Order: sequence, then C-alpha cells, then structure tokens
Amino acid sequence: MKILILPGDGIGPEIIAQAIKVLISVKARFNLALTWEEALIGGAAYDSEGDPLPADTLEHAQAVDAVLLGAVGGPKWDSLERHHRPESGLLRIRSGLGLFANLRPAIVYPELAGASTLKRSVVAGLDILIVRELTGGIYFGQPRGIRHLECEEREGFNTLTYRESEIERIAHVAFESALLRNRTLCSVDKANVLESSELWRETVTRVSQEYPAVELSHMYVDNAAMQLVKEPRQFDVIVTGNLFGDILSDEAAMLTGSIGMLPSASMNKDRFGLFEPIHGSAPDIAGQDKANPLATVLSLAMLFRYALDLPSVADHVEQAVKQCLHAGILSADLGGSAGTSEIGDKLVEILSG
Ligand code: NAD
Ligand code: IPM
Ligand code: MN
Repeated sequence: MKILILPGDGIGPEIIAQAIKVLISVKARFNLALTWEEALIGGAAYDSEGDPLPADTLEHAQAVDAVLLGAVGGPKWDSLERHHRPESGLLRIRSGLGLFANLRPAIVYPELAGASTLKRSVVAGLDILIVRELTGGIYFGQPRGIRHLECEEREGFNTLTYRESEIERIAHVAFESALLRNRTLCSVDKANVLESSELWRETVTRVSQEYPAVELSHMYVDNAAMQLVKEPRQFDVIVTGNLFGDILSDEAAMLTGSIGMLPSASMNKDRFGLFEPIHGSAPDIAGQDKANPLATVLSLAMLFRYALDLPSVADHVEQAVKQCLHAGILSADLGGSAGTSEIGDKLVEILSG
C-alpha cells in the first residue's frame, strides 16, 4: 500500500507532521506493508515549480492507493493570477482525480460538547454527515471571468451548472451513506430561485425511488443554515452542491467545537480518495505550534477506512483521538493549551500503549 502525502502551506506541514507520527506508530503496531512519499502542492509547489499542481504531483497521485493532504493557500499567493494560486492546485487535483464525492462528517465528542459556541443542550451527541458535490457547480462552470463592459465598468461572472449525471452520482453516494446510518437524507438546494437547483431536486427525488428505505426531505439552503444552528440533530445525512457544501460544512464544524475537528474524504467512482481536513492553511497561526492536528489525524483514519479497507486501524486511530480529548490534551481552538506536536506525541503514546 502506497500513500502520497501533500503537506501544502501554512499549518499544513505542522498538522501533517502529527499525522505522520500516527502513521509510523500504526504501521509498526499493525505490521502494515505501507509506504509513503511526499510531494508538493499549493503555494509551496508554485514557489518551487511555478505551478500549484506540478504534473509530477498529479501523476504520483494517480499511482498510489490514497492521498493525504494538509492545506493550501496564504496571503503570500493571493494576488497571483488565479491559475497560479494555491487553491487552483487543490481544485485541479480534485477534478483531475475525479473526486466528485466529498464526505464531511461532523461529530460532537462528549468531551467537547462544551467547546462549541452553541449550547451543550443543542449540540451534545450530534453526528451528521455532509455529502458535498466536489467537482461541479459554480466552482467549475464555464464561462467565468472578469470582463470589461462598454460603460467602462468591469463585471465578474461565474456559471452554475449541474448535469443530471453529476447529480445522480452524488445522490447515489448520499443514499448509500444514509443506508449505513439513520436512513434519513436531507437534500439542500435553492430550487425556489435557481434552475440548476430545480433539476437537482427533481433528480435527487428520482434517485430516491431506488432507496425506499431512506426517508428523503428537501430544504432550501438559507433555511438549512438556520436549522443547523437551531436544531442540528434533526439531520443525519445532508447532500448538497459544491458551494453550499463548502459553506455549510464550515458552519457545522463550529457545532463540534472547532473547525480543527472536521476531517473529509474526497472519493471518485473507483473508491480512490484524497483525505484532508476541511479547514484551510490558517495563516494567522501558522508556524506557532498552535494548530489543532486532529482533523488531519481523523482524515488519516478515514483514509484507512475508505481507501485501504482497514476499519480496525481506522477505529484504533479514532479511539486514540477520543482518549487524547478525554485526557484533556486540547489545542487552543478547543480552549486548551496543548501544542500541535504535543498532541501528536500524546497520540503516539496512546497508540503504542
Ligand atoms: P482557515 O480554515 O484557514 O482559517 C479560519 C480560522 O480557523 C482561522 O482563525 C484559523 O486560525 C482557524 N483554524 C483553521 N484550522 C485550524 C486548526 N487546525 N487549528 C486551529 N485553528 C484553525 O480559513 P481562511 O482563513 O478563510 O483561509 C486561509 C487560507 O486557507 C486561504 O488561502 C484559503 O484559500 C485556504 N483554504 C484552504 C483550504 C484547503 O486547503 N482545503 C480550505 C479552506 C481555506
Ligand atoms: C475547502 C476549501 C476549498 C474549497 C478552497 C481552498 C478551494 O475551502 O476545501 O473547503 O472551497 O473547496
Ligand atoms: Mn471550505
């Protein structure tokens, strides 16, 4: 088994370093035939190769069993032309590998029920899954750009499209996920205003006929944003488009205590995946040993579960995260004072104990 590791920018290398400690530990403990190599993406790749996704990195990703990514981006690269920016590298690897299904679980661990800015009584026990479409929608629609109008003003424009086949395949992933959970699926759209959402709703409803055991509901995205903070436990699985999923998953992260807790899996049709925390490169705390590495470590657990088919290793890693929280070894975003590498060391201690 081969893994490609892409540390990226900002806190990326710091959080990835903790995930590598965990990898080394579980490799020894489970005697895994597992190797990994690192490659460049994002601003780091632009600085060294002039391209946020060098051809080498994409080819390497195509030759391994799974990819683990830290985060990309930062103010240093924000004024580059768009195709040179770190975020373009991330979007290109998602698209290049066909990673259309992004699974973003949001779980409130008992130890963190008081860490959320929301009341404990609202978030305790929460366990939801956001299934975000990742290679379509307004992120990739053409045409896009900034044009000069005759009146001397400029106009920015993007295009939001969803084909039936794109909606169908993400709907299937969402229904299959719901079947393994509480069998309720909420599809989130803006069908009262957008044609692309009208087709989304119609298509998800059609696919639902193949899943009579799953109870499907639909919700407009503005209401969903409100319901997520009002009564988040009404949800089990949420399926939505690229942009809405981006926004709602950051919102859901705060229910769990911190954005530093949310892992994700981005899968293609062959169950190949790229695993990454949902947060960004956190330039405000980069290089200070303050970042919470748990979203990355939990992404590694998802890698073991979904890509390498090693559920017992995944369970073991998730258990170690829970024990670390239970021991009160918490980073600053969770109200604690533990450093990034201290948390990695604690996880290794638990894993090898
Ligand atoms: P961000 O997620 O990087 O940070 C938002 C806030 O959350 C910051 O205050 C940050 O310190 C905090 N935070 C994030 N991760 C944390 C962690 N692990 N531990 C503790 N605190 C954490 O979002 P942003 O500030 O909007 O974006 C910063 C850069 O990251 C931008 O360049 C953006 O494009 C990029 N970005 C990348 C990804 C990715 O690589 N997947 C995701 C989101 C944003
Ligand atoms: C995420 C990020 C990315 C996205 C950016 C950095 C391209 O916000 O993974 O959530 O919008 O998908
Ligand atoms: Mn995001």
